[in-house]
Formats: sequence, C-alpha cells, structure tokens
Amino acid sequence: MNILILGSGGREHSLAWAVLQNPKCDKLIVAPGNAGIAQIADCASLDIMEGSAVVTFCEENSIDFVIVGPEAPLAAGVADDLRDAGFSVFGPSAAAARLEASKAFTKQICDAAKAPTAAYAHFTDAQAAKAYLAERGAPIVIKADGLAAGKGVIIAMTDEEAAAAVDEMFGGAFGAAGAEVVIEEFMEGEEASFFVLCDGEEVLPIGTAQDHKRVGEGDTGPNTGGMGAYSPAPVLTDAIAQKALDEIIRPTVAEMARRGTPYQGVLYAGLMIKEGQPRLVEYNVRFGDPECQVLMMRLGAQAFDLMQAAAEGRLKDLRVNWAEDHAITVVMAAKGYPGSYKKGSVIGGLEALPEDSANMVFHAGTVTEGGQIIAAGGRVLNVTARGETLAEARDRAYGIADRIDWAEGFCRRDIGWRALSD
Ligand code: AMP
Ligand code: GLY
Repeated sequence: MNILILGSGGREHSLAWAVLQNPKCDKLIVAPGNAGIAQIADCASLDIMEGSAVVTFCEENSIDFVIVGPEAPLAAGVADDLRDAGFSVFGPSAAAARLEASKAFTKQICDAAKAPTAAYAHFTDAQAAKAYLAERGAPIVIKADGLAAGKGVIIAMTDEEAAAAVDEMFGGAFGAAGAEVVIEEFMEGEEASFFVLCDGEEVLPIGTAQDHKRVGEGDTGPNTGGMGAYSPAPVLTDAIAQKALDEIIRPTVAEMARRGTPYQGVLYAGLMIKEGQPRLVEYNVRFGDPECQVLMMRLGAQAFDLMQAAAEGRLKDLRVNWAEDHAITVVMAAKGYPGSYKKGSVIGGLEALPEDSANMVFHAGTVTEGGQIIAAGGRVLNVTARGETLAEARDRAYGIADRIDWAEGFCRRDIGWRALSD
C-alpha cells in the first residue's frame, strides 16, 4: 500500500516509524515531515489544511491510505474531503472533530451521554461570565471554546485571576477561539490519558499514558506542549479504565453515532482520577504528542493494522497484542522554551545512536542544512525507549539523551517520577 501521513512533529515521526515496520506498507510519504522523518520516508511539501490540495496529491501519488496527525486539518474537514474523493482515511470528520474543536460541544455531549465531568456553564459575553464567577468563586477553570494550540485553558486560583482570564478571552487574546467561553469546576486528582480507537461504533483501547506538561522538574513552572510521557499509566488501573470506557467513552461514541456524526479515528480522553473515579477533562481527536511516541513504541507494526481496521469499520474483529512492557519519551527542547528560544543550533551525535525496537530518537522540530541537523522549534527531539520496567526504559532514554551533543538544548531529568519508586 502507498500510505500518506499528514503532519510534521514527533507524533508523525513515530507514526511513520511504526507504519514502516508493517509489511503492508510499500511506500510511505509524510507531508510536510521534518529532518528525522526524511531519514526514513519521503517528505512532500503540501498545505495539509487544504483538503482539495491533499486530494489532488493523493490522486497523483496513487495513495491508498491517509493518516491525519494533527487536529487542525481534521477540524478543517480534510478527512471529509478525502473520504468524499474515495480515499481510505484514519481520522474523524469535521463534525466529529468538534469533540476537540469546541469545549462547549464536548460538554453538551457529556450531558447527553451522562459522562462524569466537571460542572460547567457556557458564555458568550463577559458580564454573564463574571456573574457566574462571583457565584462560584476560585479555584475555577476558564476555557476558550475553540482550538487555541493548547493555550486556551486558564486555571484561576484566585477570583482576580478568574476575572482577568474572562476579560482576556472576550478581549480577543485567543482570537475566534475565545468568542465563546466555558467556565468549569476545578477538579482535583491525578491526570492520565486513555487512548482508544473507534470505527464509528466499536471502541478498542490501545494504551494509557501520562505526560508532564510543566517545563520544570517536579512538575513546576510554565505549561508546555509536554516535556515527556510514559506508558502505561499506573494510575489508570484496569478497573478505572473499565469505568472510563463504560461511563465516559462508550456513551460518547454512542451519542456521536446517534447524532449522525459517528466518530472514527483515535479518541484521546484526558481523565482526572480521584478515589477510583475517572472524570473527563477533555477529548482530543488525534494522538497526543509526545504520548503517541510511547504508544507507537509499544504497539510497533500492528499500529497500522489497527488504524486501518478503524478506518474500514472492522475494529470488532481486531485485538491488540500487548507486551508487558513500558515505554518512556524524554523531550529535548531549545533552552528558553516555552518562552522565547533561538532556532538554528546544530545537533550532533545523532548518527551514532541505536535505532531499534527499544531505542529511537524521534524528531519533533528539526530541519537539515548543509548535511547537518538543525533545531527548528521549541520541542526538538523525543528520546524514546522501551523496557521490561519503566526504570529500565527511563535509564535507556537518559543514556541516549546524554549522548546527544546539543549545548543549546535541555530536558527534564525526572520524566516518569510519579510512576517510579527510586
Ligand atoms: P485542556 O486543554 O482541556 O487539556 O486543559 C489543559 C490542562 O488544564 C489539562 O490537562 C488539565 O491539567 C487542566 N485542566 C483542564 N480542565 C480542568 C479542570 N476542570 N480541573 C482541573 N484541571 C483542569
Ligand atoms: N501532550 C498533550 C497533547 O498532545 O495534547
């Protein structure tokens, strides 16, 4: 098969790495890709937000199957355009992608599905929002309704912060994404991510993970896109995972089907767990980044069979072959991230590193210039390793990270700490 992956991050590098191991893959193209992806697949420059351009590209390149990595093209309807043109696609329709693209929509679905989540209210003007704040008080969570590149959530610990957040959102700080605002109860507990594949009807769990959103060790400092992740997440025990499936995920997927907008693709449920009870924090309609990197390392070649079965409505017949293993990914970022940072530094030592089923450096933000690998983003590399225990995976990952010659980069040294006893 000729397979196209849309996207350019560490997530897409890990998807490409897994797909290439599957014997069904004859040719793999990633658009636009990055310097690491270019070492294992063809990269094509293509505007992945333009459905018609992606359709033309697929026709010209005899593509049989498309995997859409990020949420923006999904929300823009690129998967719909491809399916309308007859292509097999992994990823939800724009209507189903509203589970990530609109927080108010997700809350309505939770209401209809009776899925446990934070109590909330939905506003279109600052005055009504502030009246609600006065009634509820801090701590409270203010969310821009639309896609805001992971920045549209403000956890207000004081009433002043909450009022300022409402002003900021209705003042246009998040553009159109903040024209509507959801205010919700602050939930306490431990967060974990649950990933399931859906084919419109069936739901198949493919793994759990936890990430580290804060830039600093001990989970301190500003929020980032994620500084590392590990799988499985011990807090998501079998019993809690079953509860999340029965009370949150299956009712959501059934409600989407009932509305005539069935969900197909990966559904990433962010859960807050307290006293054995999961509650939904948010849905994402794509793999997490960097969570995908640990999931792909654990699933390997079968990841493609699973995604294909989801796209073709055959999940009922599929099983995941689990290994009793653990994977971890450590993000190497440019110094200064998530604040301002320099691009353009040279990264050395990568050629000498092992690349196998237990060790892999995925590229998140790199380009090649004059034969050298150059940092071209905030999060730049994802050092990923697998082991029989999380400690073994962690030691492998840091062993690799220490061999990378990049003075302008940094990583957190404590990825996985919540799940590690040493
Ligand atoms: P989201 O963009 O919805 O994932 O929110 C970003 C992060 O904010 C989540 O991963 C949580 O850590 C936190 N968060 C969001 N909503 C809540 C809530 N209702 N209570 C506590 N933390 C929350
Ligand atoms: N790592 C969090 C996310 O992908 O949304």
